[in-house]
Amino acid sequence: MPATVVIGAQWGDEGKGKVVDLLAERSDVVVRFQGGNNAGHTIVADGETYKLHVIPSGILYPDTLCVIGNGTVVDPGGLCREIRGLEERGVDLTGLRLSGNAHLIMPYHIMLDGAAEMRLGRFSIGTTRRGIGPCYQDKAARIGIRAQDLLDPKILVRKIEIALDAKNEVLERLYQLPRLDPAKIASEQLEYADRLRPFIGDSSLLIDRALRAGENVLFEGAQGTMLDIDHGTYPFVTSSNPIAGAACTGAGVGPTRIDRVLGVAKAYVTRVGEGPFPTELDDADGRRMIERGREFGTTTGRQRRCGWLDLLALRYAVRLSGITELALTKLDVLSGFPVVRVSDEYETRDGERLSELPYHQTVFHGCRPVYREIAGWDEDIEGCREIADLPRNALAYVEAITEAVEVPVTLIGTGQGRADVIDQVGR
Ligand code: GDP
Ligand code: IMO
Ligand code: MG
Repeated sequence: MPATVVIGAQWGDEGKGKVVDLLAERSDVVVRFQGGNNAGHTIVADGETYKLHVIPSGILYPDTLCVIGNGTVVDPGGLCREIRGLEERGVDLTGLRLSGNAHLIMPYHIMLDGAAEMRLGRFSIGTTRRGIGPCYQDKAARIGIRAQDLLDPKILVRKIEIALDAKNEVLERLYQLPRLDPAKIASEQLEYADRLRPFIGDSSLLIDRALRAGENVLFEGAQGTMLDIDHGTYPFVTSSNPIAGAACTGAGVGPTRIDRVLGVAKAYVTRVGEGPFPTELDDADGRRMIERGREFGTTTGRQRRCGWLDLLALRYAVRLSGITELALTKLDVLSGFPVVRVSDEYETRDGERLSELPYHQTVFHGCRPVYREIAGWDEDIEGCREIADLPRNALAYVEAITEAVEVPVTLIGTGQGRADVIDQVGR
């Protein structure tokens, strides 16, 4: 598996952390390539739960290099806290690297994220309020602060002054918030710089060398396809590209270097935040998914909206990322439903049947899912590790998905723990 991209095929929280941790055992390098600490990737290893936000999910393996790539946005204070939290639990962080080109989330980005959401009122996106959108805005506006700026105090203060010049007007006049002092922010950031300095470097070069040496490199996506700023349910999306193509720009490798794309999908669907979600359930089935799946956000603690598996959205994800295989997580959560449903088609407000996701938001907002029913299974499959041990109906469910999306399911999640998986990858 020389170069494998792992991405979320739905609306995030598909179980990418668990899958990356699993594959990281056989990887030399794991690279996060987009997003920031809006992500929450959970790993349950040996009964211990780790919630990672920007540090790659290979960090529990001391010999694996964990790179925070140039396409990410990094909150220096948040990263320092994440490092400390892991160190306190005995995790070795010597393998951590931070791209000098990664953009930094500044305190004003967090303030502006919250203020913009308040101003949008009932039209708000339901962001994680971690400053992700405003930070990517500054990157595109070319007034962003990068990790490498932490290494040059003079440049750092100058750049913060330039960025704050217009922002202080916005903070004060538009949002009635206090103006910020660039020197104070710079000195705060320089304290973090002391901690982060040893990790900062040229990550693209490091990855290139690893690939040339024939090492296994894993690219870890955050969020999910339907939250993609170009292809997701805009404007209810995040401000980066969680699809596989972004691994190239966000890590600094060419597309010819990528060998495999593993899409991670839950056996059902969840979404946090606002925005359309055709298969959403507001009934006992949805509540059962919340309870059995413990569907509460890793980063913000918000309850996740739950619904049946949407095959149109999954096929869309396969198309956008060139997914070569799927990891289907949380199949154990569906045990005990008399029937399980998958949406094969949508019906529009005009009664038209669609088998592909419509590009137009007005059409999409009006779509209702057309379900296919598949007989459920009662057996508890938690911890099941062999495909042969799956109940017949559970297997039929997996096969129905494989057939509909035309890519094989090579991993099946059967519980939270690292070992709770049917792993066909190496077979
Ligand atoms: P990520 O953001 O894609 O890494 O996913 P999160 O960590 O935010 O959410 C996934 C949740 O499901 C976490 O609590 C995982 O521990 C849990 N999880 C992952 N795979 C499985 C599985 O196969 N079964 C069960 N029951 N839980 C799982
Ligand atoms: P992981 O990597 C689920 C959602 C937010 C909101 C929208 C925009 O754990 O799968 P943002 O703060 O990014 O500007 O918020 O995106 N969102 C996520 N939903 N999982 C995530 O990450 C998410 N990161 C952002 O809830 O709807
Ligand atoms: Mg998550």
